[in-house]
Amino acid sequence: MAKVRANRRASRLLRLAEPASLFGLYKQAEIWTPNAATFVETVTGRAVDPAWEVEYEHAEQTVNERITEFSHRFPTFYAVEDESRRALYFLTRAIRPERLLEIGVADGVSTCYLLAALEANGSGTLVSIDVDPGAGGLVVSDARWQLRIIDGTRSRDELRAISRSLEPLDLVFHDARHDYEGQYGDFLAFEPSLGPEATVLCDDAESSHAFTDFAGRQHAPYSILFDHRKALGGFQRGE
Ligand SMILES: C[S@@+](CC[C@H](N)C(=O)[O-])C[C@H]1O[C@@H](n2cnc3c(N)ncnc32)[C@H](O)[C@@H]1O
Repeated sequence: MAKVRANRRASRLLRLAEPASLFGLYKQAEIWTPNAATFVETVTGRAVDPAWEVEYEHAEQTVNERITEFSHRFPTFYAVEDESRRALYFLTRAIRPERLLEIGVADGVSTCYLLAALEANGSGTLVSIDVDPGAGGLVVSDARWQLRIIDGTRSRDELRAISRSLEPLDLVFHDARHDYEGQYGDFLAFEPSLGPEATVLCDDAESSHAFTDFAGRQHAPYSILFDHRKALGGFQRGE
């Protein structure tokens, strides 16, 4: 028994150390696309309404106008890339989540698109979490939105508690620490609070094997959106 436990520990350590890459994910992913609408359709099984494209363009114009007047606190490359922004918007329109959790805000580009989609849905709330008190500067205050700045030294406990308070979660978007332990540990922290048909999205899905391992743990087929430099992973539970 002790030997089995030691072997399990060893294989987990090897998994943590194994390098991950965009190309590795490309070789491994069964469902992948460079197109936001296709990504959303494969994750949710729902077609993207052409009207959402028009809405998205309007939201993008508003966000871009705000960005031109904004002095960034975080590096601009932290933000989700173009197709991923569209995917966040379309997916939120498609599944109409009531309880949405975002982990990792930076200036708040992803937050702006999630909120724009909730606004168009006419219902739902978003709780966004970060460890940096300067996060979220781009986001205009919104009754649907709550920003929670948590203590980086015990962020996992705080994430678990916040997730519990929001149960059942319909949609979780993870874009915080990008190493295996940072991603997988966060996934395990919110896992008990996921609703039976919750959707999980993870930016920088190529940066470790955590997202694909977590989808496997959920027995959920996952889809990958290959954007300019990084990949957005997504799956829906209960299929
Ligand atoms: C890549 S940026 C997020 C970008 C954002 N989603 C966007 O698209 O604009 C990562 C953010 O995660 C935050 N972060 C780091 N560790 C975290 C943790 N344990 N919990 C929550 N946020 C964390 C960082 O402070 C940073 O703001």
